[in-house]
Amino acid sequence: MSSAQIAARAIKSLEREDIRVLEAIEKSIPSFRSIPMPRIEKVAKLHPDEVKFRLGRLNKMGFVVRDRFGYVLLSAGLDLLALNHFANKNLVQGMGTSIGMGKESDVFEVVNDSGERAVLKFYRIGRTSFRSTRRSRSYVDAASQHQWLTINVRAAAKEEEGLKRASKAGVNVPSFIARNRHAVLMSEIDGTMLYKCSKEDIDQPEQLLSEIIENMRKSYIEGRIVNGDLSEYNVLYDGTRSWIIDWPQFVTINHRNALEMLRRDVENITSFFRKKFQIHIEEDEALAYITGKKEGKMKES
Ligand SMILES: Nc1ncnc2c1ncn2[C@@H]1O[C@H](COP(=O)(O)OP(=O)(O)OP(=O)(O)O)[C@@H](O)[C@H]1O
Ligand SMILES: [Mg+2]
Repeated sequence: MSSAQIAARAIKSLEREDIRVLEAIEKSIPSFRSIPMPRIEKVAKLHPDEVKFRLGRLNKMGFVVRDRFGYVLLSAGLDLLALNHFANKNLVQGMGTSIGMGKESDVFEVVNDSGERAVLKFYRIGRTSFRSTRRSRSYVDAASQHQWLTINVRAAAKEEEGLKRASKAGVNVPSFIARNRHAVLMSEIDGTMLYKCSKEDIDQPEQLLSEIIENMRKSYIEGRIVNGDLSEYNVLYDGTRSWIIDWPQFVTINHRNALEMLRRDVENITSFFRKKFQIHIEEDEALAYITGKKEGKMKES
């Protein structure tokens, strides 16, 4: 079971005091390596016995761990705080199946109070390094654990910004619904990742390729951003349209690596269509079109 699923299961059995203790630890992250009990008591405004009891429970459930100096918030604890936020806002009522578990994120289908489905993406950067630290030593490196949590919150904030900018520019992206901490809630695309689509799934590959290029152009010219991780792994195809997902690494077009990143995005997409559908287009020409140096429709070469 993933940490988000552990959190989703536990959420109903948790009490206000548990959340207060977790929030007190979270708030203290910038000022301490691991958070001493007296600090938690002070921030949570709870009696020491109460805090001790809550920490014991939270520790057993896998939301915090103890080191020599105090308490460390684990990824599942941050998941819990995010889920609790979405539940209070009636945005997420239930967690469904996992639809993507990778190096950097866990993605779930969720439903809200009205039964509407959405997608919740939790950032997990550093998960593998954290696991190996845990295996090789008996204690948790609080500073680096907390640093990873912060990095994940930043990545989610960046994805929020990327989704909003791309959407405003008219790029086909999932609609941003909300973000809390390291978790991004967005509309669910009922599609298949491009790399998984067989030739039979795509009737008009030329049209699909030009739609993707058109979206890259909108992103560049209107949104003034470059996705930077575009490939057949980050495009979903719903049978009619394509959708570009996964924006945390976007850069603005003024970034010193923007063109290099755009070139790589173009290469990934064109080489996928070349290998799978034998559609050849000139990368330089595509690049010129996307950046607005060349007008008119893209042609096959
Ligand atoms: N809005 C969405 N609608 C439907 N499926 C989605 C959506 N967002 C993400 N997914 C699914 O979750 C998978 C992972 O999402 P995404 O590419 O955003 O994360 P990632 O950080 O690349 O994860 P990984 O580390 O696995 O590559 C996608 O390939 C897709 O199958
Ligand atoms: Mg991806």
